[in-house]
Amino acid sequence: MDFISHSEQDTIDIARNIAPDFKAGDVVALFGDLGAGKSVFCRSLIRMLLSDPDLNVPSPTFSLVQTYEAPEFEIWHFDLYRLENPEDLYELGWEEALSGNLTLIEWPERIAPLLPEETIRISIRETGEDGRVITIDT
Ligand SMILES: Nc1ncnc2c1ncn2[C@@H]1O[C@H](COP(=O)(O)OP(=O)(O)OP(=O)(O)O)[C@@H](O)[C@H]1O
Ligand SMILES: [Mg+2]
Repeated sequence: MDFISHSEQDTIDIARNIAPDFKAGDVVALFGDLGAGKSVFCRSLIRMLLSDPDLNVPSPTFSLVQTYEAPEFEIWHFDLYRLENPEDLYELGWEEALSGNLTLIEWPERIAPLLPEETIRISIRETGEDGRVITIDT
């Protein structure tokens, strides 16, 4: 399914609208270039699922992972841009992330062979300065 975004706010709204569709155990891989809007999308999703519109949701650029407590599951937000070795993922708690939580992954290319088969793939493609096409494959 394709969603057209004309602004950062559109992307925030798209993520808010689909947030209730995600459930414990889902693995969501976000593809897209630097600055595509993966973190904007994840931040909006996390704020919605935690019912906290002002929650600080930093991009886990250096920590590589950040966890959040939603009412019914944890959210594990990975940014794997700086992951050097796919095996290092296990030190970040990958197996715990996959054990019934919601896992969001920026730069999933880094661990392509380790992605579960049922991974939900979201691609954000830039179509101009503020334009994006967000494609969700389930
Ligand atoms: N339609 C849009 N949707 C999302 N972000 C947009 C849009 N238009 C412009 N932007 C801008 O693009 C940038 C997206 O940044 P963001 O950190 O979310 O990218 P990213 O894909 O996570 O990059 P990185 O690979 O560095 O983690 C922000 O500065 C945001 O304001
Ligand atoms: Mg990011």
